[in-house]
Amino acid sequence: MNKRFNFAEKCFALCCKKNIPPWGTTKKTDLSREELIDLQRNEWQHFWERMDVHIPNFKNKVVVDYGCGFGYDSLFAMQSGAKHVYCLEVSQTRLKGARELHLLHGFDNATYLDNTNVEELPSKIDAGVDIIFSRDVMEHVPCPREVLDSMYRIAKPGGRIYIGFSPFYKSPYGPHFKNHCAIPWIHLIFSEQTILNVFKEKYGLDSSVNSYQEIEGSGVNKLSCYDYEKLLDGFDWRRESELTNRFHNSPLISKTLNLLVKAIPLNKVRELFVINSYISLQKSPTAAEARPTDSEEEVLMAGPVDA
Ligand SMILES: C[S@@+](CC[C@H](N)C(=O)[O-])C[C@H]1O[C@@H](n2cnc3c(N)ncnc32)[C@H](O)[C@@H]1O
Repeated sequence: MNKRFNFAEKCFALCCKKNIPPWGTTKKTDLSREELIDLQRNEWQHFWERMDVHIPNFKNKVVVDYGCGFGYDSLFAMQSGAKHVYCLEVSQTRLKGARELHLLHGFDNATYLDNTNVEELPSKIDAGVDIIFSRDVMEHVPCPREVLDSMYRIAKPGGRIYIGFSPFYKSPYGPHFKNHCAIPWIHLIFSEQTILNVFKEKYGLDSSVNSYQEIEGSGVNKLSCYDYEKLLDGFDWRRESELTNRFHNSPLISKTLNLLVKAIPLNKVRELFVINSYISLQKSPTAAEARPTDSEEEVLMAGPVDA
């Protein structure tokens, strides 16, 4: 045990896993390129199953893959006939990987955009997007309100937006460090500083990191399901479907968690037991210039409630 740890850090360190690779080490995959594509295609199908909608008809549609990663989902949208796909990323490595993947498959009908300055997005894409999808990105963005606002602005009236958010911060493994500590909700017991100090000392997390959001590649914004729902309320879109606790291979867990949340209608309980949400939105077909009203703006400006 490290002598420099204070009492809380010693306790948390005892809860952490032993003998795991240093922080940020990526496990080398043994999968072939084709196997990787098949794996990603499964994930893509699961995404739509969790939404409980058919995979949209992408034929001749203008599409945005919001947080495209290495570009697998955008590839599938292109293979399904999308006219043009905008791939948005903050990681240059991933954006480059996405472009290479698409070219390798013979697709050049995409635009690759650095989305670091989210507010600039509406000036880069006309408000004529038919379909926006975003898989496992919302929990990572430092400015969720601006991201939703940018989605709203670039969607055409009547356009569809599909967002998978997983997991929410106050759920059992909200901050994405289950590989290092598998005890559920432990991040609500120990402080962020305590946890980061131990990760730096024990696993070599970069010493300059001062918050979960700053962790490279897996930073999270601490949004709870309640914060997220409040943010969503501020726009003129129709919620076509909104499903929570979706796990494609564990319907019983989904049902049990949702029953629990329904039986105890308290926000605090909801925040602890709603793990993910898959939501399908339609921008109002009569929406004019995409601005929330002043009173809605105030709610949005409040931003996420800190843990
Ligand atoms: C967990 S990955 C998901 C990637 C891809 N959607 C998938 O499901 O394979 C989250 C991605 O969101 C990207 N990201 C984070 N903030 C973003 C933002 N403001 N705009 C676009 N992408 C962002 C990250 O760089 C990362 O590649």
